Amino acid sequence: MNATAIAHPNIALIKYWGKRDKKLNLPAVGSISITLDDLFTETTVSFKGDSESDCLILNGRRASRQQENRVSNFLNIIRRKANIDCRAEVVSRNNFPTGAGLASSASAFASLALAGSQAAGLSFGPSQLSELARRGSGSAARSIFGGFVEMIKGEKADGSDAVAVQLAEPVFWELNWLVIITTEEEKKIGSTDGMSFSEKTSPYYPVWIDESKKDIDEMRSAILNRDFPKMGDLMEFNCMKMHALTLSSRPPVFYWNEVTLAIIHLIQELRLQKIPVYYTIDAGPQVKAICRPNDVDRIKEGLETIPGIKKIIKTGLGQSARLIEDRK
Ligand code: PMV
Repeated sequence: MNATAIAHPNIALIKYWGKRDKKLNLPAVGSISITLDDLFTETTVSFKGDSESDCLILNGRRASRQQENRVSNFLNIIRRKANIDCRAEVVSRNNFPTGAGLASSASAFASLALAGSQAAGLSFGPSQLSELARRGSGSAARSIFGGFVEMIKGEKADGSDAVAVQLAEPVFWELNWLVIITTEEEKKIGSTDGMSFSEKTSPYYPVWIDESKKDIDEMRSAILNRDFPKMGDLMEFNCMKMHALTLSSRPPVFYWNEVTLAIIHLIQELRLQKIPVYYTIDAGPQVKAICRPNDVDRIKEGLETIPGIKKIIKTGLGQSARLIEDRK
C-alpha cells in the first residue's frame, strides 16, 4: 500500500486570504493561480500495518512534531474515507526552499492528497482530490491542476463545492515567472495566523471580501483574453490589498524585507522603460515577477543590480499533480 506523487506549487494572481470555516478550511474568497513548472514536491506514502504512529521525513530529515501532527491529521481524513486504520510513513522532498513564502504547503498537500488517497486504495477524480487537498492547505486545492486555475469559494457548509477548476492548459499562454528569493529563512508568521489576525482586526477586511468577486471575474476574463497589462495591473492591485490587510492588523504583520521593496521599485522602473513585468508577493518576502519570454533577459539584468537577492528561479507554467512510478 504505497504510492508516489508529484505536485507543483502555484502562485496566486488573485489571493486567498481569510477563511469562512476553520475546521474544514473553507476560503472566505475565491482565488486564481498559475501552477509552476520547475518547482515541485515529491511525496511517497506507505501505509504500514505494523507501525504505531505516522512518521514524516521531510527533505531527508525527520520532521518537527508540529509538521508531523499536521500530516497525521490530514492522513486521518484519508483513513476515515478509506475505512482503514494503519499508520503511514510519508517521505516528502521539495526542490526549493520550504516554508519561506514559496507555496511549499500547496505542492506538499496536493502531492500528499494524491499519493495518500492512492496508497489507501481510493481512486479520486481531480475534483475530489482538490477538495481533499484543501483540507491540508487552501492553496493546495489549486495545485491539483496545471496551467491557469480558479479556486471556487463555494457556498455549502460541508465544503463539497469549495474546489478548484482549470481555466486553461499551460500551453494556452506562454509566460514566464521569475521567482526571486530574498532569504531562505523560514517565515515567522504562517498564513493561517496571518489570515486570522486580518479577519479579526483589520478594518479593511470587509472591503476585501466585498471586492473579491469583481477581482476574480476581471482576472478570469484578462486571462481568457490574454490581456497581459490588465492581468498584471490587477494582480498587483490584489496583492497590495492583501498586504494592506496584514499591515492594518493588530498586531501588524509585515512579510517583506528591504530587498522585497527594492525589487518592487525596480519592476516599476522597468515598466517606465516599457518592459512589461508585474510582481506579486505572498505570505513571505520573496517576489514573483511575471513577464513574456522575450523580456526575461532584460529583467534579469535589472534584478542583478540589486544587492541581497539570493537566487532567481525562472520557470514557466506547470502540469497537474500526477502519480509517478515508485523509485524506491
Ligand atoms: O494555502 P495557505 O493556507 O498556505 O494560504 C495561502 C495564502 C497565500 O499564499 C498568501 C495566497 C494564495 O492564494 O496562495
